[in-house]
Amino acid sequence: MNQIYKNPSYSSSKRAKDLLKIMTIEEKIGQMCQMDGRIDTEKWVIERGIGSVLHVTGKMIGDIQEMAERTRLKIPVLIGIDAIHGHAFHSGATVFNSQLSMACSWNKKMIEKMARITAIEVALTGIHWTFSPVLCIGRDMRWGRVGETFGEDPYLISELGESMIKGYQGESLFHDYSILACAKHFAGYGETVGGRDSSDAEVSRRKLREIFFKPFKKAVETGVSSIMAGYNSIDGIPCSSNSWLLKDVLGGWNFEGLVVTDWNNIGNLHRLQKVAENMKEASRIGIESGNHMMMSTPEFYEEALSLAKKGEISLDMIDDACYRILKLKFELGLFEGKKNLKSITEQSLIGCPSHVKEAYNLAAESVVMLKNNSILPLRDNIKKIAVIGPNANDIQAQLGDWSFGTREHPHIPTWDYHMDYDASNVVTVLEGLRNRGKAKGVEVSYHKGCSLEKEDETEIKKAIEIAGEADIIIAVLGDTNIQNGEMRDRSDINLRGSQTALLKELKNTKKPLITVLICGKPLDANLIQRYSDGVLLAFNPGQEGGNAIADIIFGYKNPSGKLPISFPKSVGQQPVYYNVLPGWHANRYIEVDSEPLYPFGYGLSYSKFEYSNLKVSKEVLSIDDILTVSVSVSNSSSKKGMETVQLYANDIFSTVVTPCKELKGFKKIEILPHEMKTVTFELPISSLGFYNEREEYCIEKGEFEIMVGASSKDEDLFKKIIRVR
Ligand code: GLC
Repeated sequence: MNQIYKNPSYSSSKRAKDLLKIMTIEEKIGQMCQMDGRIDTEKWVIERGIGSVLHVTGKMIGDIQEMAERTRLKIPVLIGIDAIHGHAFHSGATVFNSQLSMACSWNKKMIEKMARITAIEVALTGIHWTFSPVLCIGRDMRWGRVGETFGEDPYLISELGESMIKGYQGESLFHDYSILACAKHFAGYGETVGGRDSSDAEVSRRKLREIFFKPFKKAVETGVSSIMAGYNSIDGIPCSSNSWLLKDVLGGWNFEGLVVTDWNNIGNLHRLQKVAENMKEASRIGIESGNHMMMSTPEFYEEALSLAKKGEISLDMIDDACYRILKLKFELGLFEGKKNLKSITEQSLIGCPSHVKEAYNLAAESVVMLKNNSILPLRDNIKKIAVIGPNANDIQAQLGDWSFGTREHPHIPTWDYHMDYDASNVVTVLEGLRNRGKAKGVEVSYHKGCSLEKEDETEIKKAIEIAGEADIIIAVLGDTNIQNGEMRDRSDINLRGSQTALLKELKNTKKPLITVLICGKPLDANLIQRYSDGVLLAFNPGQEGGNAIADIIFGYKNPSGKLPISFPKSVGQQPVYYNVLPGWHANRYIEVDSEPLYPFGYGLSYSKFEYSNLKVSKEVLSIDDILTVSVSVSNSSSKKGMETVQLYANDIFSTVVTPCKELKGFKKIEILPHEMKTVTFELPISSLGFYNEREEYCIEKGEFEIMVGASSKDEDLFKKIIRVR
């Protein structure tokens, strides 16, 4: 009888149900396991029929699928990797800027294109699933993984996450270049106490719904295929033992995809969070709480099998988990032999010029100009530039986390397995300035100046000599991968090493000074702001970062980045995110006020934009109305430029405390010299609601402020009052 599951004319759902019927309990539990593909490969793939592997690239991908062919049912292995800003562990692939950097572009189309290019390059290497996007909210700069987020605002994160998921998954998962996206880390992972990675997030269910769930709810509405349960606990309940989180909430959103745990979450229930006395109990809890695939918990297979054979676990839950996994494999076309490892010649698209050009475009739109005392772009009389600083020529600092630069990480592919990584396609800031300088007859000298890890001022004197011979200094400061990432939280956000000493000496030369920040997340930039005549922020700008930054400095590109995250003046000043709840009596500390050094939504341009003529279509509306908001934006300069117009709203009186403003819309537009454009937003009144104390979403009657402008700063916003009856 021609089995349904072998027949692609049937739906993936029907095929998965049919295959499930003939599977043994061992085969079902095997599908629920995901292990590092480099360890005990034959045992996991052939003997246990593992469902998924991660952290392998190259030839081994083909080897693994061939091993799967030797199992009874020949179920293809689902292969996942952290391709979170390009396929950055694959040598020669296009490495884009980090999520926090690309969020500065506020450009949904470009981010969708970045994800599509990543999907193409990942799919060509026989990999089917990226553990991306990160939809965590970055609000505590002590946390090591802020750089992986889209910043501090739930709405902006939701919008950019949607673009990324669409890029990865395309119109259909069956398409050759579509891969599974994974919304992570569910939930509240960025809000743990003290910024301590994977500890406890002390957030209420109401606040989860109001803030932290929003990007994930949007991801589910967008059709994300998988969600990763976070390491952290929420109010003392680990995500992977939280059936309210994984079953009630996701069920309430009709999520039909796959919940994968983060690395060894099930083992951590026992060893770290101690909510399970042994691994058998941890495995039972893991299944019953709604985790479908267990990442890197070697004991799970035996323990789950023992539970199943003794009738101590619901077989329905195992069937549901296995069904979800199989359905995705059918949807991807894996049973039809699609998306296998391609030949090296077929992989020619990887890192191709058109992909690299997109990495440049996104990086160039992601640079934020934070200060400009008419020093940028460089004038033609500048003939000698001194590039000074530890991040001027540092590939790893430039690429950021989850790429070639991420070394000594317990979960990241060690390079003994990978072919030698070819980083020759990375253009550092120094190389970008030299490339552009040569074309303009500008000489570029360089000195590293100091380390950004250890205190060592011995090199500073030499750097100052070089700086003294130039017309202008470009300092490139920041941090690097050992100060960012998983298990790399900080108790401060100061510039490490001898960067501050270097900066003071550069200031003492009295030369014009531009500072470029290459960093994983907001750092203490007070001195940079005070000493520099111009400040450019790139976060981790990716392989084309050097060309993008150089083109902005020389004026070939007009900076258009806006901050997706606030810069605190000090680590102790936090929280400074713009939508903090009101109520602080003093509204300042003894030592410092409550204003960030640079606020959310802020960024300068070479153009000069002016806002006027804010209009609302109605002043009294009902809940199911749509409000039309329009504003005129003119460019009074002689340079065309792009402006991100931001729309905020404030529910003035509400039965729970709500922020004094929340982002509800944004549009990035190009305006020609001396041109005026009218920007229009369609704002559903239903989007002005919040979750009340009973966790119900509601829109309350009363007055609302509607605000439009160039940043979240009050002085940048034009306001109108509307009334909802
Ligand atoms: C890591 C991270 C997660 C990543 C996973 C696989 O520890 O927390 O973001 O996707 O393990 O590498």
